[in-house]
Amino acid sequence: MSSSYRETYQSWKDDPEGFWQEVAGEIDWIEPWTKVFDEQSGPYGRWFAGAVCNTCYNAVDRHVMQGRGEQPAVIYDSPITGAKRTMTYRELLAEVTALSAVLTDNNVAKGDRVIVYMPMVPEALIAMLACARIGAIHSVVFGGFAAKELATRIDDAKPKAIISASCGIEPGRIVAYKPLLDEAIELSRFKPDCCVVLQRQQQECSLIEGRDIDYRASVDAAISSGRQIACEPVLATDPLYILYTSGTTGQPKGVVRDNGGHMVALKWSMHAIYDIKPGEVFWAASDVGWVVGHSYIVYAPLLHGATTILFEGKPVGTPDAGTFWRVISEHKVAALFTAPTAFRAIKKEDPEGEFIGKYDLSCLRTLFLAGERADPETIRWAEEKLKVPVIDHWWQTETGWTIAGNPVGLGALPVKHGSPTVAMPGYDIRIVDDAGHEVKTGTLGNIVVKLPLPPSCLPTLWNADTRFCEAYLNEFPGYYKTADAGYKDEDDYLFIMARTDDIINVAGHRLSTGGMEEVVAEHPDVAECAVIGIADAMKGQSPCGFVVLNKGADRSHADIEKEVVALVRQKIGPVAAFKTVVPVPRLPKTRSGKILRKTMQQIADGVEWKMPATIDDPEILNEISAALKERGMGRQN
Ligand code: COA
Ligand code: AMP
Repeated sequence: MSSSYRETYQSWKDDPEGFWQEVAGEIDWIEPWTKVFDEQSGPYGRWFAGAVCNTCYNAVDRHVMQGRGEQPAVIYDSPITGAKRTMTYRELLAEVTALSAVLTDNNVAKGDRVIVYMPMVPEALIAMLACARIGAIHSVVFGGFAAKELATRIDDAKPKAIISASCGIEPGRIVAYKPLLDEAIELSRFKPDCCVVLQRQQQECSLIEGRDIDYRASVDAAISSGRQIACEPVLATDPLYILYTSGTTGQPKGVVRDNGGHMVALKWSMHAIYDIKPGEVFWAASDVGWVVGHSYIVYAPLLHGATTILFEGKPVGTPDAGTFWRVISEHKVAALFTAPTAFRAIKKEDPEGEFIGKYDLSCLRTLFLAGERADPETIRWAEEKLKVPVIDHWWQTETGWTIAGNPVGLGALPVKHGSPTVAMPGYDIRIVDDAGHEVKTGTLGNIVVKLPLPPSCLPTLWNADTRFCEAYLNEFPGYYKTADAGYKDEDDYLFIMARTDDIINVAGHRLSTGGMEEVVAEHPDVAECAVIGIADAMKGQSPCGFVVLNKGADRSHADIEKEVVALVRQKIGPVAAFKTVVPVPRLPKTRSGKILRKTMQQIADGVEWKMPATIDDPEILNEISAALKERGMGRQN
């Protein structure tokens, strides 16, 4: 099939508002917009201004009304607990309505925030939809974050309620969520009125009287009393959710997603990019705590009337490297979306792909990868073993959907390994130098997007318009700074090479080295530190902390290292995957005192590096090499 991508992209370019207006026809609106794009409102404008809608209605109710009531909406498959459960759209509606009633009864109303701190259980998805139904703004916090991170988000979002669970399950250990929740509320200055807590049989928890509500008991009571809660009309420009993501400091950025533009872009993406028809099964093997989970476990498949898989497990070890193939064949998955790291984990366990041969994967049409750079070797392995197109695509928490991709539904373009292909409609992508001038084809530069951003992209940061402008708009006036660096080739294919800030990508998870440095520096024996991301064969990158110890620190280095690792785990959480601390006598700096992190990274990765012209004392780099060599890291010659 030839691709209609070029005509589609051109039709957007010729008439951006006309393009999105037509696409918006796929959504049911309560009242139409007064302006498709209102450039006067918000830091750079707002989509579908004046329109009234409800995201839950579009994701659930309308499918029941249009005859999809008995179709599976959600398949929960949990190899880590052995549980499996299929929920039809009708059942999903009943659960969502009941939880909406519980929230309403606890005074949660339109515009109030609700934090969702849950493992990968259907109730997490139900909680998000229940908030959407009543116009409350959810903020999901990934379960791998520690109490302090949760507390920071509570203080920023000021939630009326928190929906949580007694525990999550990681291989070999139960993660007790309730003590983390209680500690976070203890730590935060702002206190929620109530917590709705799901008791999981693997480990129940005690509830605090007057504050905690038993999820199941209250939802069951709402179901048996037949409570009906209608979908609350909200403005298209009202926030649907806030999702915190790593910034350059320990203070995360609250990415705001609106209701209208989000629905429009996501619904379009399901057929144009992912080539999925309503009724088909779509699986995003991610976590609802990340943006991929928000968009492609929850909202997009449901807006499209597809069936979504909610998978509680890992690509390996639950129970083996064949788990993904079992899920695909058992539930007839048409497209899988995951991070390359999942495939690297599988390839490491089963390099020959022997498990693949044990399952009938004829239902699988496409594999989509995102979240980190897809290395050509992993792509080739997946192509060869699965015998389906493997499609890399590039996006960010800020956008909520693809910036550059290969729109399979419009007819796939030729794949070039190492490139997520081309700009999607809505994105006018330019590569510029630090002064904002466009660079030549093939030249590495800052990747920026001409404003306005398309529907679904963040209109601002939660309660932080100024920070939004500072972080994204001010450096390149008229453009959104992606903070990724890369280049375009002669066919306009993009290549995403690195971040331009101190964000690192560990197993597809976005982490701030600045945030880690803030924690490492808290250790009483640490005088100075630098955290960098070093190459990791499985996770892409892993954090490594270089510490200069205080003069008086006479304790064993091994003890201090262990304490620093424990401190990061305790303050940020296990997701930081912070396991390496290297004591060094000094940190390399420029003459103006800037730490030379990039050079340290090149030394640690064992790649070629050049002596920075601005370095204060070149000898320090030899000290770094020696400290790494002692641990078997860096170049061993
Ligand atoms: N709750 C509590 N702890 C969690 C958690 C959660 N929801 N998720 C991860 N963790 C913990 C892990 O148990 C691990 O703890 P450990 O240090 O005690 O072993 C730590 O956080 C680091 O997790 P991770 O980096 O994910 O490593 P892993 O070894 O557990 O798994 C992969 C590695 C590659 C299998 C896994 O990251 C994966 O499946 N990634 C691909 C899918 C994905 O998540 N994509 C996200 C964006 S698309
Ligand atoms: P997150 O906001 O967690 O989705 O992380 C976004 C960042 O992940 C981007 O800014 C990129 O640095 C990286 N990223 C995501 N997808 C890709 C991809 N397909 N190729 C290269 N990098 C990617």
